[in-house]
Formats: sequence, C-alpha cells, structure tokens
Amino acid sequence: MRRAILQRFILVLFGALILNSLIFYLLGSKILLNSSSDDMLYMLEVLDNSLDYDGNLAESLNQLDHVMDDNNSRLTVIREDGTVMADTQADMEDLDNHLGRREVQDAMEKGSGYARRRSETLGIDMLYVALRSDHADVILRAAVPFSGFQEYLPLLFPAGFLSLLVAAAGSFIVTNRLVSSITQPLQDISKEMLKVKGDYTELNFEHCKYPEINVIADTTMKMSKNVKDYLNQIEKERMIRQEFFSNASHELKTPITSIQGYAELLESGMIQDEATKADFASRIKKEAVRMTGLINDILMISRLEAKEAEVTFSDVRISVLLEEIVDSLKPQAAEAQVFLHVDCQPIMIHANLQQMRELITNLISNAIKYNRPGGQVWINVRETDGQMVLRVRDNGVGIPSDSLDRIFERFYRVDKGRSRKQGGTGLGLSIVKHIVNFYHGTIHVTSEPDAGSEFTVFLPMSREKA
Ligand SMILES: Nc1ncnc2c1ncn2[C@@H]1O[C@H](COP(=O)(O)OP(=O)(O)OP(=O)(O)O)[C@@H](O)[C@H]1O
Ligand SMILES: [Mg+2]
Repeated sequence: MRRAILQRFILVLFGALILNSLIFYLLGSKILLNSSSDDMLYMLEVLDNSLDYDGNLAESLNQLDHVMDDNNSRLTVIREDGTVMADTQADMEDLDNHLGRREVQDAMEKGSGYARRRSETLGIDMLYVALRSDHADVILRAAVPFSGFQEYLPLLFPAGFLSLLVAAAGSFIVTNRLVSSITQPLQDISKEMLKVKGDYTELNFEHCKYPEINVIADTTMKMSKNVKDYLNQIEKERMIRQEFFSNASHELKTPITSIQGYAELLESGMIQDEATKADFASRIKKEAVRMTGLINDILMISRLEAKEAEVTFSDVRISVLLEEIVDSLKPQAAEAQVFLHVDCQPIMIHANLQQMRELITNLISNAIKYNRPGGQVWINVRETDGQMVLRVRDNGVGIPSDSLDRIFERFYRVDKGRSRKQGGTGLGLSIVKHIVNFYHGTIHVTSEPDAGSEFTVFLPMSREKA
C-alpha cells in the first residue's frame, strides 16, 4: 500500500512539474513577444518624430542602414496604398505591395500592429511591428529576427534541470515521510489483527494522530467487543436451554415412571382388590394431570419467549377476574387453612385475559402453598400513575435471602420436597416474570423466612404506555 501511494504521488508530482513548465513556457513566450513588440513600437515612434518626410527619406534611412544590417534588422516605410517608399535592405523595385501584411493592415486600422512569421528572404523567424505615422500618410515598419522563448531555453536549461532535481528529491523525501505517517497506523492495525490469529474478540489498538483512522480502530474494537458479548450471550442461552431440557425431561420422567408402574401392576392382574384398583387409576390420572400442567407451563414459557404475535388483547376487568380466581382457589385455601383478604379497586387493563389469569393465580397460589395452617394472604390491587399495582402478601414460610434472586429461574424451588408434594414444578414464577416482561412491567419481592413474603407487580394499564 505504501509503495502504491508513493508511486502514484511521484507520478502526480512529475505531471504537475511538466504542466508547470508548459504553462511557464507559453506565458513566457507571450510576455516576451508583447514586451519586444512594445519596445519596437517605441523605437518606431521615436523614428517617426525624427524622420524628414519632406526631404530625402531614402537618405535618412541609409544613415540607419549600418545599424540595422548588423543583426538582420530592417526598416521599411510603406505608403497607404501598400507600395514601399523606402527600405533599409532591399531595392524598392523588388518589393511587392505590402498591403496584405497583417501588421500593416492592423496599423492602418488601429494605428499599430505586429505579426510574427518566417522571412522568406532570410529564412529565419522575424517579428514585424508597424506604426501609422503621425506626420505623414505612411506606415513605418520594423522587422527584427525573433525566435521567442526558444532562444533562452539553452540558457535556462541547466538552472531548470537543477531546480527540477532539487524539487523532485525534496518532494520524494517529504512524500516518503508523509506516506509513512499515514500508512504506519494502518500497518499497526493490520499487524495487531494478524496477531490475534482468528480470535477477533481481543482486539486492542493504540490511538494515532488521524481521527479517521481512530474511528476505524475504535469501531473495530467496539465490534469485536459486541461479537464477544454476543458469543457469551449465545453460550449463556445455550446453557440455559440445555439446563431447561434436562430439567423438563427429568420432571416429565417422574410422572411417566409412576404411570408406567401403576399401569404394569394393573396389567399383571396381581391387584384383585377393587378399591386398590380405583386408587391406582386415580393416581395415574393425577400424574397425567400433573404432566399436562407441566407441558402447558413449558408451552406458555416458550410462547412468551418467542413473543408470539397472536396474543389477543382486550379490556380486562381485574376485580371480576380476581373474584373468579379467588373462587377457584378457595378449596385449596380451605384445605391449607389459609384465609384470603381481597382489596381491589375497579380497574380495567388492556391485556391478554389468559396471561392476567396466569399471573395472578400463580402469585396467590404460591402464597397459599407456602403458608401454614391459620396463615393469611392479603391481595391488593391499585392504580398508580397509569400503572396497575398488584400486591400479594402472606405471613407464610418466607424465602431465604440467598434464594430471592433465583426464584424466578425455571424449575427453581427453595424446598423441592415441599413444592413437589404440592404438585409444583418451579415454573410458576418464571411464567409470572415472562408475563411481566411481556408488558414491560416490573416485579419486586421482599421476604423474611418464617415471617412471610410480599410480591409487588407494576404493569402499564394501556399498551401505548408499555
Ligand atoms: N409466597 C411464597 N412464600 C414462600 N416461598 C415462595 C413463595 N412463592 C414462591 N416461593 C418459592 O419459590 C419457588 C418457586 O416458585 P414457583 O411458583 O416458580 O414454583 P412452584 O410454586 O414450586 O411450582 P409451580 O408454580 O410451577 O407449581 C417455590 O418452590 C418456593 O420455594
Ligand atoms: Mg408456584
């Protein structure tokens, strides 16, 4: 890359130098031509003032002859009809009509004129300058050999060549340094990238003086960090999924083993007693119900995780729903000898009815399950700042502080034996948390072992606020 930039830079430099020389040559030629013709015009004006047009003009010109002869210069006096009146070099009879000459025409029209062309007589380039006389009806014309700027080229060549060499060497050194300072940070970056040997999550670049390169370096580092975070997240999710599947299969295996055992016993014909047979059948049914519950819970979690679009929303009257839930849980509460107290404002929330039922049922059912005979559960629903606040408090067994962070994990149970006895699988609070997240709400829990627990859920009332 460094070499390519250097090569291109040198090419551009040479191009610029050549263009510069060309412009210098063209402008120099033009300036030289103008200045020479101005000088000659001045000379003609002086001559015009000093020539004796009424006397012997040829005589006067002859006096200038020896000066003009030396350097092939020539002075001609031309009448307005184009015929030559006098000339310092040629016989007038040999000279044709000069009216067609450009400089003569210009002098007639504008007072003065000049032209540059090759002299057929001398075979060299000449500059012709003509002036209309102020004292007689004639045109004065001077001609001098003129090769323009080319004449000075041999003189200027050594100095020009030397300055070209100095400029080329100087700019090569400066360009070399400049290119190095630009390419060095890029080389450092590519070296660093090659060093990591495929693990682009550990990229670390030094800052350099060019902000644009720093932006590339910073963005690459940020991207590598994002990739690392993303890979970590994927790994974490893989572990959670793996744990979930092993837990789910374990939980399903238990009822299946029981069902299989009871079914085999019934099939063997060893059980003759009708009452025992009925008991086995009821156990099989209970385990099947438990399996159905577990599968429904798993499906619910996976639906919530996938954030399925088919969730239907409606205006849910929380007081009506709560009454219905409490009614359905009354037998469970009565069996556990737990008293329920409900205090609910008439609140309407735009949500999915089934999800709301699941959320509230799980919290109240836990408060009943993890309680003692004679225990109490207080359920309170309020509206605060456009949010529904649901509080479920109990004075049951409470949750140890080291388990508080974990109770929302799938299949986590503080006391596995007690939970299983109650038919629990440890998915209830995980579902609750998923539902709360689905509505962009929050859930808090405070608890003290042997004193009780309080779960508080905040849910936005309308979907726009969610
Ligand atoms: N109100 C509560 N008081 C004391 N412990 C609780 C309470 N609520 C939940 N827990 C603890 O948190 C654990 C997880 O609760 P979660 O509702 O997720 O599962 P579960 O009730 O055991 O089973 P599931 O709800 O799936 O039937 C419970 O096993 C229990 O140990
Ligand atoms: Mg539960």
